[in-house]
Amino acid sequence: MSPRRMAHASSALRSLAREAMWPWLWPWFWWLGPSTFAFRAAAPADSWRMSDIHASGFAQGWARGELEQMIVSANYAADVLVSRGLVGDVVSGFAISRIVAGEAELLTIVLEPETRGRGLSAELLGAHLLSVRRAGGEKLFLEVAADNAPALALYRKAGFEEIGRRKGYYPARNGVPHRDALTMRADLSDLDPTPRYV
Ligand SMILES: CC(C)(COP(=O)(O)OP(=O)(O)OC[C@H]1O[C@@H](n2cnc3c(N)ncnc32)[C@H](O)[C@@H]1OP(=O)(O)O)[C@@H](O)C(=O)NCCC(=O)NCCS
Repeated sequence: MSPRRMAHASSALRSLAREAMWPWLWPWFWWLGPSTFAFRAAAPADSWRMSDIHASGFAQGWARGELEQMIVSANYAADVLVSRGLVGDVVSGFAISRIVAGEAELLTIVLEPETRGRGLSAELLGAHLLSVRRAGGEKLFLEVAADNAPALALYRKAGFEEIGRRKGYYPARNGVPHRDALTMRADLSDLDPTPRYV
């Protein structure tokens, strides 16, 4: 089975086990649920799953090929959150930044919907900030919709400061009016850039 189909099957089974099965059946499916989470650098084979997860969080998705290009490029840092179960590791979220001459931009951070609300985004972002620093980033910028409360709370807690606002930056869509974008910046120069496994 291809990695993409495997990830779909595993995710679907876990959702079914959690949401649809009667509680007394749950112990039989304990092994389908993610027992632990881990973080690692993204690999090209993750791009299928990352594309699906991105589409779950944003109206305009990223194609698998675009993601693969970013993963293999030296100017990008890409990290994934994986849930570890008996059926294997399943990518459950990711973060990607572009780094040029010491300045980096966080292009996206997104978790699959069933993984949100557990504080894992803070751990993923923490791991990603280290990756960006190790790839040469000293300052990290991002843009976020001013009404994206979970993302704003996540960024502020990670040390990002607001440095600007773009009025009506995000176009109206599906009945939601124009939204402002906040520009934020974090200073990464205090993070240790030494690679972990040297
Ligand atoms: C942004 C995202 C990665 C955050 O992950 P998450 O698992 O939903 O976030 P958490 O549940 O850990 O919440 C993060 C913080 O926001 C807070 N929060 C969550 N919902 C909130 C709300 N509606 N209002 C205010 N604060 C909120 C949480 O309490 C938490 O703060 P804490 O650590 O001080 O308790 C996730 O929601 C996601 O993938 N969203 C879709 C993609 C997206 O918008 N990405 C950001 C683009 S810039």
